[in-house]
Amino acid sequence: MLLKSCCIYSIGLFSILILLSGIVLVLSGLFPRLLKSVVKKEIVLKNGTDTFEAWENPPAPIYMQFYFLNLTNPLEVLDGDRPAVIEIGPYTYREYRPMEQVDFQDNGTKVAAVNNKTYIFQRNMSRGPESDLIRTVNIPAMTVMEQFKDHSIIANLISSYMKSTGEGLFTTRTVGELLWGYEDGLLKALQILQPDLDDVFGLFYKSNGSSDGEYVFFTGQENYKDFARVDTWNGDSKLSWWTSDECNKINGTNGASFHPIITKDETLYMFSSDLCRSLYVLFEEEVTVKGIPGYRFSPPSMVFANNTVNPANAGFCVPAENCLGSGVLNVSPCKQGAPIIMSSPHFYQADEKYIQGVFGMSPQKELHQTLIDINPLTGLIIQAAKRLQVNVQVEKIPRFDQTGNVGTVIFPVVYLNESVVIDDASARKLHSILVEQNVVVNVPFMLIGLGIVLGGVFMFLMCHQKVPVSTAAERQPLLSS
Ligand SMILES: *[C@@H]1O[C@H](CO)[C@@H](O)[C@H](O)[C@H]1NC(C)=O
Ligand SMILES: *[C@@H]1O[C@H](CO)[C@@H](O)[C@H](O)[C@H]1NC(C)=O
Ligand SMILES: *[C@@H]1O[C@H](CO)[C@@H](O)[C@H](O)[C@H]1NC(C)=O
Ligand SMILES: *[C@@H]1O[C@H](CO)[C@@H](O)[C@H](O)[C@H]1NC(C)=O
Ligand SMILES: *[C@@H]1O[C@H](CO)[C@@H](O)[C@H](O)[C@H]1NC(C)=O
Ligand SMILES: *[C@@H]1O[C@H](CO)[C@@H](O)[C@H](O)[C@H]1NC(C)=O
Ligand SMILES: *[C@@H]1O[C@H](CO)[C@@H](O)[C@H](O)[C@H]1NC(C)=O
Repeated sequence: MLLKSCCIYSIGLFSILILLSGIVLVLSGLFPRLLKSVVKKEIVLKNGTDTFEAWENPPAPIYMQFYFLNLTNPLEVLDGDRPAVIEIGPYTYREYRPMEQVDFQDNGTKVAAVNNKTYIFQRNMSRGPESDLIRTVNIPAMTVMEQFKDHSIIANLISSYMKSTGEGLFTTRTVGELLWGYEDGLLKALQILQPDLDDVFGLFYKSNGSSDGEYVFFTGQENYKDFARVDTWNGDSKLSWWTSDECNKINGTNGASFHPIITKDETLYMFSSDLCRSLYVLFEEEVTVKGIPGYRFSPPSMVFANNTVNPANAGFCVPAENCLGSGVLNVSPCKQGAPIIMSSPHFYQADEKYIQGVFGMSPQKELHQTLIDINPLTGLIIQAAKRLQVNVQVEKIPRFDQTGNVGTVIFPVVYLNESVVIDDASARKLHSILVEQNVVVNVPFMLIGLGIVLGGVFMFLMCHQKVPVSTAAERQPLLSS
């Protein structure tokens, strides 16, 4: 009898102890803190770790997709009508970007590397071959005409040269030529004036197989928040249409990677060499990618707002008094004076006048926003899509008949979607890590649960103890008699 009630009371005591320790653990936040310190230790660039391997050679395939805007009414546009375009795409390239010449520095707190990008055409993921023809603005001609519009003699010479070769404001070229480069007759002729001028033009000329310089990253050893953050970037001094010294100045505080334990109110910076500056993104919503929880970050419309709304964009007023409206950024100083304007595809988030200015634009958030989905605990990117549109500012230049009566318009040429989704193997691995961590974090709650269950058992036994004891006491004499 004594043994039995002793047992019941120890259950009671035990349940109270478990309950209390569970509550203390929950209140102290010890387990989440332990977990965070483990994550912080794991997320560091160190030779031999999984994190390092994934950084050195990203396992998930990165795709670069191009969508061209084929002009259907060139003659009407020269007469002043608004351009009508048809979206043609995708033309898909697999992008390989391994870190090479990896070199640890300063006791492993920094690592230097070169990031070579290679683009391989994926015919089965493309609308057609790279030999498909696209009619669009003749960008070299537009650039040259803009450049010499105030020099009457040179302008006349160039104009007659263009007439003799039949070059005009618009041109029809293959997808491959427009992206990776073609020899341009006008540029070649201009080499007489400027011998160092490159006569090849392409939107991504020299981008294949070339690196954009040496990066030095923080490894995160000193501070997990610095994980894979760019320390310095020695821009490539090779001048091409898409890189120039002026644009290769990276702001030391801005990287393109994310640290673990991301919160919803953080502002994350990404460096974009296409825009010649860093972009920031803000939390938008919670998402799930391949079963993994993530926070979606995207650039707020403020990033592209006009300079009255966002004075930080005054730098895109080129020349200083010529400010464009919201949603379009003039990056011509970065593009060797070519009148290149960047925007979101289909002028998403841009001033209505740009959308209305071109027939065939239909901006849609899901298709045209830039987004990045990050697993908050590990800071790993589980999905991302960088979407940008390359436009050319087209206007009538009186000294050049080639521009006819064209109206002033921001003419869309191509937009790109550079995207990545976590690969299945990494997703499975991350998923099991997250499940384990969920279990660990919930241990205090499990203790509380166990304490409550044991408490219930204790109560049950206490209540039921009396009844059998008394009945047994009553029956005993009966049995013994
Ligand atoms: C990493 O370690 C391996 C084997 O120990 C070695 O071959 C390799 O050079 C190291 N890499 C770096 C970047 O130090
Ligand atoms: C590297 O570590 C050693 C020993 O811990 C120390 O003496 C040295 O100053 C460190 N060097 C740098 C560049 O931090
Ligand atoms: C890029 O370079 C690689 C190797 O040098 C080549 O195989 C590939 O076809 C090139 N891609 C383009 C788009 O020219
Ligand atoms: C783009 O338009 C041009 C001119 O109309 C046409 O020749 C070409 O086939 C079009 N391109 C595609 C891929 O449809
Ligand atoms: C560069 O970083 C400084 C802070 O170090 C910041 O004030 C400035 O806005 C940044 N510039 C750009 C273009 O991001
Ligand atoms: C800037 O944008 C705001 C809001 O869209 C608009 O009211 C204003 O007129 C714009 N200013 C200029 C100069 O475009
Ligand atoms: C990239 O974005 C375009 C629209 O902008 C969309 O049609 C395409 O499916 C996207 N590609 C990937 C791989 O998500």
